[in-house]
Amino acid sequence: MRRKVTVVGAGNVGATAAQEIARRDYADVVLVDIKEGLPQGKALDIDQAAAVLGYEPSIVGANGYDETEGSDVVVVTAGVPRTGDMSRDDLVTTNEGIVGSVTREAAERSPDAVLIVVSNPLDAMCHVAKNVSGWPRERVFGMAGILDTARFSTFIAWETGASVRDVTAMVLGGHGDQMVPVVSATTVGGVALRQLVSDERIEAMVERTRKGGGEIVKLLGTSAWYAPGAAAAQMVDAVVLDQKRLLPCTALLQGEYGIDDLYMGVPVKLGAGGIEEIVELELTDDERAALDASAAAVREVVSVLTA
Ligand code: APR
Repeated sequence: MRRKVTVVGAGNVGATAAQEIARRDYADVVLVDIKEGLPQGKALDIDQAAAVLGYEPSIVGANGYDETEGSDVVVVTAGVPRTGDMSRDDLVTTNEGIVGSVTREAAERSPDAVLIVVSNPLDAMCHVAKNVSGWPRERVFGMAGILDTARFSTFIAWETGASVRDVTAMVLGGHGDQMVPVVSATTVGGVALRQLVSDERIEAMVERTRKGGGEIVKLLGTSAWYAPGAAAAQMVDAVVLDQKRLLPCTALLQGEYGIDDLYMGVPVKLGAGGIEEIVELELTDDERAALDASAAAVREVVSVLTA
């Protein structure tokens, strides 16, 4: 039997993730949105692309949750995106209500699913999904680190003239301007980034990564979707195909990295059970301090939550 993946939110990020997942051809996909016609129309379009691209047309759109029953993975992208000068944190109250109701509906019909949160402010929305579902932390986590790492890797590839495939990087911490690109663990073809690029240029790339979401918002007037959609699909791959990938994801820390009861971006092993292990990297003193500052920033947003 084919697996089932539900994507809630048929907007830019959700539809992109759904298309990426449909193209893998390992699952039936259900695309849910509150807007009438939107998920149905996008699903039909993605199904018709299948004949050209060579996958099975097995995505449906819905405004309710009955079709989502028995999903293996639920990806939550519902919410309002960041616009203009709005920070991710400004979104907190609106998206808390949306993510809470979506989680309730989806969790009821797929009680054994893995829940991947994408809606912003990400770290806080993971807390909402965890609280509402009541599921263990292994099955409720968020997508941010892969996207932030992809941005950092892109800048490194451009700076060094290397293929992005040969860049190994890791961005930890909250999905905000205080995220922590771990320079000490960043290599290009196995060579430490610090040996290849000056501290000044590294700092510029770190800054650009931290503000990577805002840079796109300034250009487009809304937030990104191609890289976020692809990143969410990569996490779905790891779970559905039990890949045991080591990926930076937003996980509930319970003492790891000296942080307790807070969702933060850390490297995890992702497989069929969701998070199968939280990996603790050795950090430099500066990186540690940056991670603590990022945790404090996340705690501030989490404190805005009403429930
Ligand atoms: N139930 C289902 N869908 C909802 C609900 C709800 N209660 N509320 C809003 N939506 C839908 C909207 O109708 C819209 O189609 O969520 C979709 C969001 O899509 P976009 O506005 O295009 O936003 P997008 O760019 O996809 O970003 C979605 O992901 O990266 C984050 O910051 C981003 O929080 C935002 C989310």
